[in-house]
Amino acid sequence: MARSKKKISYDRLVIEKISSEGAGITYVDDKVVFVDKTVPGDECSATVYQKRKNFNKAKVDELFVASEMRQDPFCQYYGTCGGCKLQHLKYEEQANYKQKSVYDAFERVAKVEVKEIFPILKCDKTQYYRNKMEYTFSNRRWLTQEEINYEGKINRQGLGLHVPGGFSKVVNLETCYLPDSVSNRIRNFTKAFCQENNMKFYDLLQQVGLMRNLVIRTTSTGEVMVLVIFFQNEEEKINLLMTELQEAFPEITSLNYIINGKKNDSYPELEVVNFAGKPFMIEVLGDYKFKIRPKSFFQTNSLQAKNLYDVVKSFADLNKEDIVYDLYSGVGSIGIYLSGECKKIVGIEIIDQAVEDAKENAALNKVENASFNLGDVTDLLNQEFIAQNGKPTVLVTDPPRAGMHPDVVKTILEAEVAKIVYVSCNPGTQARDINLLSEKYEVLKIQPVDMFPQTTHIENVAVLKLK
Ligand SMILES: C[S@@+](CC[C@H](N)C(=O)[O-])C[C@H]1O[C@@H](n2cnc3c(N)ncnc32)[C@H](O)[C@@H]1O
Repeated sequence: MARSKKKISYDRLVIEKISSEGAGITYVDDKVVFVDKTVPGDECSATVYQKRKNFNKAKVDELFVASEMRQDPFCQYYGTCGGCKLQHLKYEEQANYKQKSVYDAFERVAKVEVKEIFPILKCDKTQYYRNKMEYTFSNRRWLTQEEINYEGKINRQGLGLHVPGGFSKVVNLETCYLPDSVSNRIRNFTKAFCQENNMKFYDLLQQVGLMRNLVIRTTSTGEVMVLVIFFQNEEEKINLLMTELQEAFPEITSLNYIINGKKNDSYPELEVVNFAGKPFMIEVLGDYKFKIRPKSFFQTNSLQAKNLYDVVKSFADLNKEDIVYDLYSGVGSIGIYLSGECKKIVGIEIIDQAVEDAKENAALNKVENASFNLGDVTDLLNQEFIAQNGKPTVLVTDPPRAGMHPDVVKTILEAEVAKIVYVSCNPGTQARDINLLSEKYEVLKIQPVDMFPQTTHIENVAVLKLK
């Protein structure tokens, strides 16, 4: 290793593992070194660009040996965009990496013995599988090195995805391999139209401009929902863009907008204006239909969502006497999917529109044994709620990435529900919660499901039984 005051370079590193952020990992003098865009088996020289007490982050200078796990990245924004961080890894190896990550989380964080760990359910479609994309407008888009070196004038307006680690850094996209092609066409059209019509792209630091976000959702049955988020209510310009989108894309079945004048991008409490088409779209999973409105969560990979719910159904192994709680129920999809197998479904969800959707979804599917309750699981799930709704015999929980609040875990422990099916998009927080639950529960089976090929994201289902 050659050291200078300014930089640290490594002459030869052998990459051993992949981090949860998708970087290669090796060790030098017991220090962890993360090397961007490398995979196990790579041998390279590298230079440190971030030095910390416990780790260094480095970039490859020269790749001497390319691992057999590698494949050529397919996207021009590889390495810049925060989207498909694992695209340099063969899909088979991505699946192995995810399987191992789940295994490690259970061993190191949950610290429990798992009776059966099933091989990850791979996704048949490894590109164009996402049914929802949230793009950000920026008047100071992120520039590539070639653009920085270019001496001519550069258009700084962009519409795309965030660069990792920077809320204000947006990479402009011309093509994206995650959504359906209609999403690419609508995004590119919107960007060009806004530029031609002097509709100012948002300045994420100064917080000025008109065009803020663009959300495009699709269903497996061909419906398309568009939600444009403006910073200000400039009626004339808004009408101009919305009318143009309506005319240019007859495929759009639900065209909506929101005015978000807040400092942050979140919009659960803001009013959605339905400009044209239906104020919702309908997705079909198996025998069930789901009404999804612009603010409601729905699994972003419809193809794998069905497989995921089939795992939940199999792990829950219900009978007609079971009372099933569906915590973090979204638009009621898991509860409704299980409703035919049990006595009763009781859902809890914090977004009012999602709860309304869940109730309508129950009606749409002629499900009469499900109720969906509005509220924060942390507050609503208590002894009184359980007394009113019946003691659950099976509890399905599918929290956001942060996992469950410790108070929720405490209530579940007190309720001594016989079986828990824990669905998670973050095995780290799932393992943390299961460690707390292990006071009274044993883990019978886990089934990782790859909902997000090319990314480091992992979905995992665990079934726990009261000891
Ligand atoms: C990962 S999604 C799962 C949704 C649903 N189970 C599905 O499969 O589509 C998590 C859901 O939890 C809701 N949520 C987040 N925090 C919550 C809380 N504290 N209480 C109740 N619901 C919450 C979100 O709005 C979202 O719908």
